[in-house]
Amino acid sequence: MYTKRLITLLVTIATLSLFTSYSQDKKVNYEEDKVTPYSLPSILTSNGGTVINNINDWEQFRKPEIKYSFTDHVYGRVPGNIDTMLVKVNEEGTFLDGAARRKQITLTFIKNGKEVSADLLIYIPNSVKKAPLFLGYNFEGNHTITDDKNVYITKSWVPVNNEIGVKTNVAVEESRGSMKNRWSVEKIIEAGYGLVTLYRGDIDPDKDDFSDGVHQLFYTKDQEKPEQEDWGTIAAWSWGLSRVMDYLETDEDINHDKVIVFGHSRLGKASLWAAATDNRFAGCISNNSGAMGAALSRRNFGETVEVINNAFPHWFCGNFKKYSNKGYLLPVDQHMLISLIAPRPVYIASATEDLWADPKGEFLSAKEASVVYNLYGFPGLSSTNMPKPDSPIIGEVSYHLRTGVHNVTDYDWEQYIKFAKYNKF
Ligand code: GCU
Repeated sequence: MYTKRLITLLVTIATLSLFTSYSQDKKVNYEEDKVTPYSLPSILTSNGGTVINNINDWEQFRKPEIKYSFTDHVYGRVPGNIDTMLVKVNEEGTFLDGAARRKQITLTFIKNGKEVSADLLIYIPNSVKKAPLFLGYNFEGNHTITDDKNVYITKSWVPVNNEIGVKTNVAVEESRGSMKNRWSVEKIIEAGYGLVTLYRGDIDPDKDDFSDGVHQLFYTKDQEKPEQEDWGTIAAWSWGLSRVMDYLETDEDINHDKVIVFGHSRLGKASLWAAATDNRFAGCISNNSGAMGAALSRRNFGETVEVINNAFPHWFCGNFKKYSNKGYLLPVDQHMLISLIAPRPVYIASATEDLWADPKGEFLSAKEASVVYNLYGFPGLSSTNMPKPDSPIIGEVSYHLRTGVHNVTDYDWEQYIKFAKYNKF
């Protein structure tokens, strides 16, 4: 009895201290002059020390090395292929007084006799024949991105979110349209682009629990979580984007050579990794993606490797945990993630009040990645200094620092549309 109580007490103390030290409130640095000097791993020097100075050596040797390092140490390996993907068209209709059409499609992934489904919401402008488009996850369900009454309410597990009326883990009508400010659907359609979105939780519910989502499809008998080197949630989300691309390649209404993968914050981390691992994404946008997205992890500014690992242990592979307070030992930094997308157009966006995501670290990452764009004959980010707020740099490598908080706004979408036009999407 005594031993049992002692164990309970010890477990409680351990849990509490873990929570305190792992909490996101942990002191992080927000002062530029307190950023300790760091040196970045070189994008264009191979693991064996060879300097890479041409596209062939980049593509044949260095790019695979970097991709392998991110897979093995950060996001994790996808354990295999699914057996089948079923496509079901559930609904089609018109939208925006006939300016666009809507399709709602369910993709079902089958593996080892188990299945997981994801619902796509697709808007296609009627003004173009085969629409170029933006593809990205939403945080709370397809029905939250628009007031469109025809959009199905997600049946998947959703996090409690009182602000949008979600009081249990079941989505409700009240939350319809609640996130529409983040999705400038009308502007996108008006500019001649389509939009494809899906709920992150369809692919993997965002919680530290590997019994659900696509992970469990791949488990061998008695397996309960991914292996040490296998995928976390971010890699699963990126995988999901590639499966959507598999579908888009078959959709006659869509120009699948002109798909820009988009994501905000944690979903921006996923869009970068999706573009890095799947060349079919012709462009990529990372909106306020921060730590382990676009921001350099070696700058100790805002969220750190340790903080993110402790607050969101399920996002990365098991191997990543060992870097918690040793980020300087990581074989990669995030400029290398962006470099994997070259020469395809990439847009990194920050916000002035989003210090948690380290706007300067995001800018520097894009700047550093430009060396690979240079190999392909593109200038990359032309400015060495961070631009002033609301002064976007649009090119193959684009960047802006929007005035305001961590969010996606009309202003951001206006720039993304300009970026798409500039890059001939
Ligand atoms: C947290 C997390 C970030 C993440 C963000 C989001 O703040 O620490 O890394 O980007 O959530 O997804 O909104």
